[in-house]
Amino acid sequence: MYRKTYALINNDILENNVKKIKEKYNEYKYYIGVVKNNAYNHGIHIINSIIKGGINYLAVSSLDEALEIRKYYIDIPILILEPIDLEDTIVASKNDITIAVDNLDYVKKLNGLEFKNKLKIHMIIDSGMNRLGLKDKDEINEVEKIIKSNDKLYLEGLFTHFATSGFKDEYYDIALEKVYELISDLDIKNIPIIHFARSLTLERHPKCDYTTGIRLGILMYGYNSNISYSDSFKDKLRMLKREKYLKKNNISESILDSNLAVEPAFSLYTKVISIRHAKKGEIVGYEASYKCEEDAVIATLPVGYADGVNKNYGDVVINNKRYKIISDCMDMIMVLVDEDVKIDDEVEIFGNIISPREVCQNLGVNAYHLYSLISNRVPRVHIENKEKSEVKY
Ligand SMILES: Cc1ncc(COP(=O)(O)O)c(C=O)c1O
Repeated sequence: MYRKTYALINNDILENNVKKIKEKYNEYKYYIGVVKNNAYNHGIHIINSIIKGGINYLAVSSLDEALEIRKYYIDIPILILEPIDLEDTIVASKNDITIAVDNLDYVKKLNGLEFKNKLKIHMIIDSGMNRLGLKDKDEINEVEKIIKSNDKLYLEGLFTHFATSGFKDEYYDIALEKVYELISDLDIKNIPIIHFARSLTLERHPKCDYTTGIRLGILMYGYNSNISYSDSFKDKLRMLKREKYLKKNNISESILDSNLAVEPAFSLYTKVISIRHAKKGEIVGYEASYKCEEDAVIATLPVGYADGVNKNYGDVVINNKRYKIISDCMDMIMVLVDEDVKIDDEVEIFGNIISPREVCQNLGVNAYHLYSLISNRVPRVHIENKEKSEVKY
């Protein structure tokens, strides 16, 4: 690793997060780790650790992602959460990758293909989100009939996804009732893997009838739904905004059940590559993005928006002290520091003192978005069994 910017991914924390989740929500047989987008950008080399923690199925969003994982993990079942092209289903079956189906026409065509290996299928039910899934009861019954009539096709699972699973609100109740009604004619007992819940659903709602599996994404990566507010002005404003939103949408917050002590495993570090002294009145960065109000010390860091980092992150930490980001470029940011900071000092962008939650709040995005921002040119250094190893993607 020549450039000094890297993401430190603690696989041991992820293993423990899964163990904690399993301990608390222990009524399921299938714990499906959602590892799409390079495992929420933690890198697929976390998979060994989440399997050790108790994950026994994986979920991704494309065949490409599934095949990449299959290179390293030959046994674990992998579900692609989105429908794939019909002609690619042969490759999926060859590599023991499970597909998801969401329309009758597709299933009829699938029935006409010649498979050497059995193709495992999960049926998607639309709970009202109108993104994916079957929403007509007759079609759902027909899909089941076709799959059952073909001995190369196997209806292994059925799932849905809720639009509003964060709150106990009328949409969630309506969605759940709708799903129960849509699947009421199916031979549910012979579909082994029924999974409705994702992280927030799991934390905020009782177990759904029939379900034998859950899909674990952001909770596994250490982000629970507890929202805590400090006394700061910014946080007070945020709290007021949230209260207004709940009131406007007639939403009552469900009992917050998240005493689950999962921890984030993703930290981002870099090093100081240049220190400069600027006189009062001098400018810093493109478009004079900062003007020195007095003589200043500026540290330049080799991380920029091409890596996913910009000045809206707020602060960085150097030698346990916070400093403000004052300018950003594609590959570098500049930080207002003091005489204590030296070239080669290590810098925390987020991780230990600055939590990912704080960065999310400063950027006005959620954790899914923050992790997606960190680009693949940033090497991932994994800690596994307390040992560090670097992985390039
Ligand atoms: C179909 C589906 N299931 C599960 C997940 C994981 O959700 P979470 O990270 O909230 O657990 C996602 C995330 O986008 C998804 O699209």
